[in-house]
Amino acid sequence: MARHLITSAIPYINGIKHLGNLVGSQLPADLYARYLRQRGHEVLFLCATDEHGTPAELAAAKAGKPVTEFCAEMHAVQAGIAEGFRLSFDHFGRSSSPQNHALTQHFAGRLADQGMIREVSEKQVYSNADGRFLPDRYIEGTCPNCGYDKARGDQCENCTKQLDPTDLINPRSAISGSTDLEVRETKHLYLMQSGMRGQLNDWIDSKADWPILTTSIARKWLNDGDGLQDRGITRDLDWGIPVRRGSEDWPGMEGKVFYVWFDAPIEYIACAGEWVEAGKGTDWERWWRTDKGADDVRYTQFMGKDNVPFHTLSFPATILGSGEPWKLVDYIKSFNYLNYDGGQFSTSQGRGVFMDQALEILGADYWRWWLLSHAPETSDAEFTWENFQADVNKDLADILGNFVSRVTKFCRSKFGEAVPAEGSFGPEEEALIETLTPRIRAYEAHMEAMEVRKSANELRAIWTIGNEYLQSVAPWSVFKEDPDRAAAQIRLALNLIRVYAVLSKPFIPDAAASMLASMKTTDDSWPDDVPAALTALPAGHVFEVPEVLFAKITDDEREDWQARFSGVRD
Ligand code: MF3
Ligand code: ZN
Repeated sequence: MARHLITSAIPYINGIKHLGNLVGSQLPADLYARYLRQRGHEVLFLCATDEHGTPAELAAAKAGKPVTEFCAEMHAVQAGIAEGFRLSFDHFGRSSSPQNHALTQHFAGRLADQGMIREVSEKQVYSNADGRFLPDRYIEGTCPNCGYDKARGDQCENCTKQLDPTDLINPRSAISGSTDLEVRETKHLYLMQSGMRGQLNDWIDSKADWPILTTSIARKWLNDGDGLQDRGITRDLDWGIPVRRGSEDWPGMEGKVFYVWFDAPIEYIACAGEWVEAGKGTDWERWWRTDKGADDVRYTQFMGKDNVPFHTLSFPATILGSGEPWKLVDYIKSFNYLNYDGGQFSTSQGRGVFMDQALEILGADYWRWWLLSHAPETSDAEFTWENFQADVNKDLADILGNFVSRVTKFCRSKFGEAVPAEGSFGPEEEALIETLTPRIRAYEAHMEAMEVRKSANELRAIWTIGNEYLQSVAPWSVFKEDPDRAAAQIRLALNLIRVYAVLSKPFIPDAAASMLASMKTTDDSWPDDVPAALTALPAGHVFEVPEVLFAKITDDEREDWQARFSGVRD
């Protein structure tokens, strides 16, 4: 038994995430956490909402609410959706928590003490009408390169040229449209991470087992010309964690807050404190401080590829730069993108299926299964309604659901709703057990390696073996000549249902729970010993035929949904 700390990238508060976000972080993290718990490990699985920054302020303004109120409401909404998807976080925290305030200020103070912070005076655009400094991307104007009139201050979307806000012709505030802008002098704190390049490089080099996607992105940022530059960790905004040096004021930094990307990953740590505060645990430092027992914790992070630079470089720079014994990540599992029906999922454009909408049309297991079995691991993947319908119908209804239904119904009609006692296993049963053992071991190996698609493929293969066995021994025919033999076959098949429930639980927890409930057993022990696991339900053990586990998606439904989700969400 080991101790596993697992975090998933913390979703922004400003909107509900789409299925592409889900499959790139929270869902595979949940799969892994559930699997490890089932195998008897001690797991702390944390996630939170990422609440600071301009996007949160603007979303709150759009909703006509004070930002604190907006965030509290959206946190509750996101927590509810996470529950709907059966994401088994031990705690779902908030980056705006008092714990994160204190810890973020603590890190900044430590970094300053270690000589890792410098103050920089810079010129920034101030909007008189908005009464605030404008982040680069909230300044719009005409691109000096291509003439596009909605270019943003950081980049022109049309010709992709990187811009400075002062390059724009006729600049205006993207918030109010006002052109009453001026350049003002303002002071900011910079984290001197460029000096840590060697140290970070060695650290990444020591991670030979990490996914190539993770290390290649990290190396690109480390080695490309303007890779690891010192970065500003403060902003002129109202909403955020006030800049303080530990618990002291920071002269000259009054009214400023930390940059959201500085405080967000620190929330991974603070969240453990929130977990304790919520009464769910007793000692968070045991998970996070290597001087307090965390050196035997294995820490795994899950995220989409766009988040990799922050987790491989910036956050480790914060941790290492503090000179304190915080736990560093041991493994980063990153994902490519999931596309939607010939284009991209897009939060800003409202394109695709969002988490709340998905649950309105189907239960969590359908989505969990399809998304995980198509996880964009080695390349981008694509969601299409046709593929969703075909794969869900085949895997969940035809293979797994059908097996459970045929076995239980046949038993009820011939032997009643209890495991039949007669007969004994013959060569076919021995062969089945023999095939299953290495398959289950392979499934375990893939799950341990976080090879999500391979795990799903193996699980599907394990389900298929049961179906093929049933098809080939055909107990319904055998029954006519040799009812005892049919009884033995069904005894094995009923036990297989329990084993399938246990193995499938990380992927499809609801269906797994129904399967166990219909087998009237609470024995969800892992099939370490496969032959023994296949006798766990003894002769005479009572069960009941379950409701249909998975209804097939009809063509009408598919067409409906396809039309409903073809446009953009407002
Ligand atoms: N909110 C970011 C996103 O949705 C992820 C932040 S992860 C953390 O892309 F490390 F900063 F916490
Ligand atoms: Zn341009």
